Amino acid sequence: MKLSTRHLLGIKDLTPQDIELILSTAAQFKDVLQRPVKKVPSLRDVTIVNLFYENSTRTRISFELAEKRLSADTINFSASASSVTKGETLLDTVNNILSMKVDMVVMRHSASGAPHFLAKKIPAAIINAGDGINEHPTQGLLDAFSMQEKFGKLAGLKVAIIGDIMHSRVAMSNMYLLKKMGAEVTVAGPPTLIPKHIKEAMGVNVTYHVKEALEWCDVANVLRIQLERQDQPLFSSLREYSLAYGINRRLLDGLKKEIVIMHPGPINRGVELDSDVADGPYSIILNQVENGVAVRMAVLYLLANREN
Ligand code: CP
Repeated sequence: MKLSTRHLLGIKDLTPQDIELILSTAAQFKDVLQRPVKKVPSLRDVTIVNLFYENSTRTRISFELAEKRLSADTINFSASASSVTKGETLLDTVNNILSMKVDMVVMRHSASGAPHFLAKKIPAAIINAGDGINEHPTQGLLDAFSMQEKFGKLAGLKVAIIGDIMHSRVAMSNMYLLKKMGAEVTVAGPPTLIPKHIKEAMGVNVTYHVKEALEWCDVANVLRIQLERQDQPLFSSLREYSLAYGINRRLLDGLKKEIVIMHPGPINRGVELDSDVADGPYSIILNQVENGVAVRMAVLYLLANREN
């Protein structure tokens, strides 16, 4: 089977069959990653550039590791250490890199739509590693993989996405994916951080009460407040945000059931999650990070395979 698309720009463009194919291929790569020899020759002679115009820890290392496990040649590009600081455009930068016989581009950019723009201009396959407030498709896929691993299914699962929905590309990719795969989604947070028409646009439920979302859900995907994307204050203070919307152990222990806690990282400890929740028995946060490598191997493998 092949993916229906030659780029991974967003979950919005994927079919449920594409998502199933990526998740089942990721499960096979996860088995490979448990072996003493974790490397396979699948992308030998394929060259991939990791083009990061915005900071990253997890996504960047995870892509690089996934590429190395697949035996691809990798190049890492940081905008802050490049000729972008001398005024070079995105398109010039990428065309120069591609002229050195690079086959695939993994790209993170603070501008929403930057990878979509590039996809119309260059011949190489592009994987969106996060564009502004638009999408972070591999995060959505690794979150889904982690939920499926934990619960054995996505259809019918009740997922609460909690926090700064307005500025979160992770929320966007999760909503598209979970709705395509038959899960139920509720978004929760302060009214100023939830887009007004999200219920109609995305088919999700909305609540402004975190406790209500926690009582309803099987799994809560908790998001960071994206202060870097807010040009004016949208709530009174981080302390008040934490008191009203932060998740602590007392809140979870008061529920009449166990739920699973997820977070894409980086965590602002003591703001959206207390440490005893982030590091506690409800949390699968580090499993998400582990699964990210297998999911990114699957995406790279399937896109490269589509070109053959
Ligand atoms: N989840 C995530 O995108 O983390 P990074 O910003 O560290 O890549």
